[in-house]
Amino acid sequence: MNAPLYRIPGTPAASAPAEAPATTPAAPAVAAAARSVAEVLAESQVEQVLAELDRDLIGLAPVKARIRDIAALLVIDKLRANLGLVSQAPPLHMSFTGNPGTGKTTVAMRMAEILHRLGYVRKGHLVAVTRDDLVGQYIGHTAPKTKEVLKKAMGGVLFIDEAYYLYRPENERDYGQEAIEILLQVMENQRDDLVVILAGYKDRMDTFFQSNPGLSSRIAHHLDFPDYGAGELMQIGRQMLAQQAYRFGEGAEDAFARYLERRIAQPHFANARSVRNALDRARLRQASRLFADRARQLTADDLSTIAAADILASRVFGGEGALA
Ligand SMILES: Nc1ncnc2c1ncn2[C@@H]1O[C@H](COP(=O)(O)OP(=O)(O)OP(=O)(O)O)[C@@H](O)[C@H]1O
Ligand SMILES: [Mg+2]
Repeated sequence: MNAPLYRIPGTPAASAPAEAPATTPAAPAVAAAARSVAEVLAESQVEQVLAELDRDLIGLAPVKARIRDIAALLVIDKLRANLGLVSQAPPLHMSFTGNPGTGKTTVAMRMAEILHRLGYVRKGHLVAVTRDDLVGQYIGHTAPKTKEVLKKAMGGVLFIDEAYYLYRPENERDYGQEAIEILLQVMENQRDDLVVILAGYKDRMDTFFQSNPGLSSRIAHHLDFPDYGAGELMQIGRQMLAQQAYRFGEGAEDAFARYLERRIAQPHFANARSVRNALDRARLRQASRLFADRARQLTADDLSTIAAADILASRVFGGEGALA
């Protein structure tokens, strides 16, 4: 028997340790009697999440395709379970690699929702952590910290950002190793109620996996998030503004295109996150501009328009004293 050293409490009786043969996880009431893909999709309402993912996220075609593949796997697994064709829960731990601001956290939240709707995790929440949340400073601190995080994440998705910081080969007795070992056990033994997503830069993650074959072999799905092109960044910007009831005024979209062109070439460019930050600052400038004119009656149009000047005052254009 493969008795786990660490078992995080709080999982339902149905998924108790190895005495019962592993079955499909916490089979939900929904889709229990389904016999067709359409029935599973309708009962679990997974189609909505997939459609929202398609609609709300610009670009990311390869990522969206992989998520559809994973959803297909899970739906078929559900149908197989209904006919008793089950051996083990499909492996679901994942790695999301890509540069900052490419949508990894956002997609992980959608993934958690899909897993929940199909009954692969009980609650469907996402707990996002980094090394500091898992690893202690002193001997004896790491295990309780890691276990506390795992307990919070049970029934959902544990998202470990910049996961490679857990492994510091230059320091022989680094406590990160202890966190990795606990993670490994829980990923193996409680994979019917916890999905782990390791995220970070692609090259560093590749090196991390090479040095940690135990972890690597437990990751079933590798999703790579490409950088956005200039056109996609513009679309993302338009969408972000629209979601907050703003819009580009005359010439502002052109100005923003020129802004993006410059900003992409600068250090610390972070894809969609940089777009969000730039627009937040443009809103700040718009507000200052409107605030300065005390007597003017402001229309809805005034209040929702980002003018070209609000973009062009950015430091990216060399404006002195301006915010980035
Ligand atoms: N394809 C997209 N379409 C629309 N908005 C997006 C897209 N990708 C990311 N965003 C937005 O950009 C911001 C950053 O995204 P997110 O936090 O998911 O990226 P990340 O890859 O996790 O970044 P980091 O590595 O910095 O944590 C969020 O506000 C998100 O809503
Ligand atoms: Mg993130």
